[in-house]
Amino acid sequence: MAWRNTSERYGIVAKSFHWILFLLIAGLIGFGLYMTSQTFTPEIFTLYKWHKTIGVLVLALVVARVVWRFVSPPPPLPANTPPLERWAAHLTHLLIYVAIIVIPVSGWLMSSAAPFPNLILGNIQLPALIGQDEAASKFFSAVHYWAGRALMALLVLHVGAALLHHFIRRDQILVRMLPGSFSRKA
Ligand code: HEM
Ligand code: HEM
Repeated sequence: MAWRNTSERYGIVAKSFHWILFLLIAGLIGFGLYMTSQTFTPEIFTLYKWHKTIGVLVLALVVARVVWRFVSPPPPLPANTPPLERWAAHLTHLLIYVAIIVIPVSGWLMSSAAPFPNLILGNIQLPALIGQDEAASKFFSAVHYWAGRALMALLVLHVGAALLHHFIRRDQILVRMLPGSFSRKA
């Protein structure tokens, strides 16, 4: 299987980015919802450190993924894709990229502006992006919350579309993003 994307399918690098980020982002959503539903104890504080550590890692991976997307553009959609669907697929992907950049950046800004230490695993202090400011921290907390909710909605559409292609349309769209080099007749 090729490292780069071909005109037919995604390559190893794009697939690895997709599925590693899927696991990390799904974990972050789970961690995020759980930790904010609990009273604040030292154990929950450790979960915050995990959340921030993985969150910053996700930000770095997303930047690398976007750079790679310019180096190796994704395979085009099948030629018979109706214009509205083509547009919907591109818009959903674009909004997902925006969300997975805005969410970690707003998390980092919120935590920088909050009036307590902004620690990741190993009790390492994350460099502050802005100074302490309660109003700014509240604002970025709201951005983090709403962009997170928007991402969850986009992912419902995204996964729904992938399953529709695979089980109803029975085309190559899901298969070309799966690990390995399977193929099915269109
Ligand atoms: C793609 C990466 C990230 C995702 C998907 C994500 C997702 C979430 C979610 C779903 C919540 C729960 C929100 C709620 O229901 O109240 C949350 C909370 C939180 N996240 Fe993230 N997060 C990410 C990155 C980060 C980063 C990088 C930081 C900080 C460096 C961070 C700091 C926080 C904090 C402090 C909370 C507690 C909520 C608050 O105080 O407003 N997150 N996150
Ligand atoms: C955290 C969860 C996920 C995120 C953030 C995510 C994000 C993305 C993004 C940004 C793309 C566009 C790739 C590009 O061309 O640059 C993409 C493509 C794709 N994703 Fe996901 N995805 C997630 C979960 C899933 C799941 C669970 C499935 C399968 C059930 C899936 C199936 C696909 C498929 C099939 C494509 C390729 C679409 C095409 O060929 O045009 N994704 N995903």
